[in-house]
This record gives sequence, structure tokens and C-alpha cells, in this order.
Amino acid sequence: MANERFSEVDTWKTNMFLYNAALKEISTKIEILNDEFVQVHNYNPIEHVKSRIKSAESIVRKLKRNGFEVTIDNMNKYLNDIAGIRIICSFTSDIYTIAEMISNQSDVKILQIKDYIANPKENGYKSYHMVVTVPIFLSDGPTETKVEIQIRTIAMDFWASLEHKMYYKFEGNAPLDIKNDLKQCADIVEMLDARMLSLNEMIKTYKIEQDK
Ligand code: GTP
Ligand code: MG
Repeated sequence: MANERFSEVDTWKTNMFLYNAALKEISTKIEILNDEFVQVHNYNPIEHVKSRIKSAESIVRKLKRNGFEVTIDNMNKYLNDIAGIRIICSFTSDIYTIAEMISNQSDVKILQIKDYIANPKENGYKSYHMVVTVPIFLSDGPTETKVEIQIRTIAMDFWASLEHKMYYKFEGNAPLDIKNDLKQCADIVEMLDARMLSLNEMIKTYKIEQDK
């Protein structure tokens, strides 16, 4: 029994080690892609990147909430967001550029894409989600490890943080006027993103008069 427990702790540790390694691999890939973009196009598509590993408490809570027995097998099978990375861009167009650059990496496999920009959620949530795997090479060979990637603009991120705060505060049952206000803010975010994008295009193509 004691031995069995020990080996379970060991399996847990190896598991979390893999997710941590996957997060590092994807973070490095993103950093390199961004650096290359800066070098070739003289333009920085990424504002910043945040990454996190889901806590043991959250893993257990999510498995239970979804009706699964709490086992390491189930967490690997059913949870896609144990390793999570969020990429924040200035413009909506950057989101698709980055998503494409990630998809083009030969060792990254795409398991799932949810485009909440083309199809926003009912509450107004917008973001581009990818679940990918990346091989982690340990001494006994490669293990494909899942990472959830969320890509959104600064404005979408601003909105999502407030929505998240509201959701937790009211445990999903926010007053209607607050929900409506937030939905209106989502529309403003959409308008702002569109205008900032076209303004940026204008700035890029603007020719300064050579009047000297
Ligand atoms: P989860 O069980 O919540 O992980 O959702 P899912 O497995 O159906 O995947 P989905 O791609 O819809 O959502 C993944 C993650 O995106 C969530 O864990 C949140 O971090 C984020 N997300 C999704 N919907 C919302 C939303 O309405 N508001 C906010 N603030 N974040 C969201
Ligand atoms: Mg999640």
C-alpha cells in the first residue's frame, strides 16, 4: 500500500513535469516566432505572453464537475488546460498570424480549435483557442503533451478579465443589468479592435509629404 502510494506520487510528479516542459517548449517556440517576425517584418505581433499550470485543486474540481473519477489517467485524457498559455496581441489580424505560425510547426499537432472571434460566445467572450500537443523528449522517448493556447487582443483580454471577476463574484448568476452592460462592453471592444486595426493600416500606408 505504502509502495503503491509512493508510485502514484511519482506518476503525478512525472506528469506535472511533462506539462511544465510542454509549457516551456511552446513558450520558446512563440518567443522565437516573435523574434523572427521582428527581424523579417520589423514588427512585433505579440504584446505579452502569460503561462500557468493548473493547480492540483483546480484539476480535482474540474474532473469532479465533469463527472469523472479523480485519476491521473482521466486528467490526461479529459483535461486540455493543465498547461495553459495566453498570447496577447495588439490587433485581431495578429491573432490569425500567430495561430498560423504555431500550426506550421512540424512537431506541433492541433487537437482542437475554437474560434470565439468568428463565433463569439453568447456573453460576448472573444478569443482564439487552440489545444495542441508538443512532444517532450525524455530518456525513454517522446511523450505528446497537451497545451491550451488562448490568443486574444489587449481589448479582448481586458474584457475577459472583468467578465471572469464578475462570474466568480456572482458564481455564474450575475444580475441582468451587469450582464447587459458587459455585453455592451463586448460590442465596444469589437468596434475598438476594428477601428484600431484600420487606423494601424492607415498609419502604415501613410506617406509623409517630402516638402524639403
Ligand atoms: P472550460 O471547461 O472552461 O475550460 O471550457 P471548455 O473546455 O469548453 O473550453 P473553452 O475553449 O470553451 O474554454 C477554455 C478557457 O477559455 C476557459 O477555461 C477560460 O479560461 C476561457 N474562457 C472560455 N469562455 C470564457 C468566458 O466566457 N469568459 C472568460 N472570461 N473566459 C472564458
Ligand atoms: Mg479552463
